[in-house]
Amino acid sequence: MLMEAQSAYRTIKVQSQETGFGAEVTGVDLSKPLPPAVLAEVKDAWARHAVLAFPDQPLTLDQLEAFTLQIGPFGHDPYVEPMPGHPNVLEVRREPDEKVTPFGGNWHSDWSFQATPPAATILRSETIPPVGGDTLYADASRAYDELSEAMKDRLAPLRAIHSASRAYGPNSAYARELHLRAMPIIVSPEADKTCVHPLVRTHPVTGRKALFVSPVYTVGIEGMAPNDADPLLAELHKHIVQDRFVYRHHWREGMVVIWDNRCTMHNALGGYDGHRRVMHRTTVAGETPT
Ligand code: SIN
Repeated sequence: MLMEAQSAYRTIKVQSQETGFGAEVTGVDLSKPLPPAVLAEVKDAWARHAVLAFPDQPLTLDQLEAFTLQIGPFGHDPYVEPMPGHPNVLEVRREPDEKVTPFGGNWHSDWSFQATPPAATILRSETIPPVGGDTLYADASRAYDELSEAMKDRLAPLRAIHSASRAYGPNSAYARELHLRAMPIIVSPEADKTCVHPLVRTHPVTGRKALFVSPVYTVGIEGMAPNDADPLLAELHKHIVQDRFVYRHHWREGMVVIWDNRCTMHNALGGYDGHRRVMHRTTVAGETPT
């Protein structure tokens, strides 16, 4: 159930989910440059709710790029060929005859294996199947808040090891399935590199702490044997994706969703075999996680 946001937005209408995680924003036209007061309110709502959905915004690719640049500079998107003529736009496409897991179909925070992972991802729906194809978002800030104090103390000094190897390395699932997918995914030994980030990161805008781990990209914990790290990571992953932390987004065509990779994980669901799903995606550069 959506709830009218209590805080006084003057230029946009914000209706949040009951938990406060995820909100729908109307009364704004993303196809045009946003006046400073509107952009400030959009950014405020994004900081409060982490995932914002804007219905009825059938942006062209140029307009999607222009909106992205109002949020921040483009991030760097590896391992997928960008769209011709649009080096900062990826097409997330699944054809009716595909049987493989959807692109992004497991819990992750985008490109968390980068030294400066993207702050935001922006996804605009082009073709939506009549059934399935929802995206799940998990609130990694609230998941952190609800850990025991003992667990928070245990996690505080830890640094997690991130890698693209499970997704894009030579031995990854994508490597085995490349010929079964419409998307131009790039498999590379580069993906086996690792990058270390604090396991709990602090959001640079809200100051809130969030768990920064995911089953796709977190492959270990620095200085900890796999026998110890793997069960701890599995426990954290199970904790974050409990129903009470999850917002399930149902797409309609011409919707724009922006999410904050610094305090969320997401998972693209299937359930639409026999139908096409096409989305266009940009990222906004982020900072070094601290
Ligand atoms: C992604 O992980 O970026 C894909 C999300 C989606 O297609 O819903």
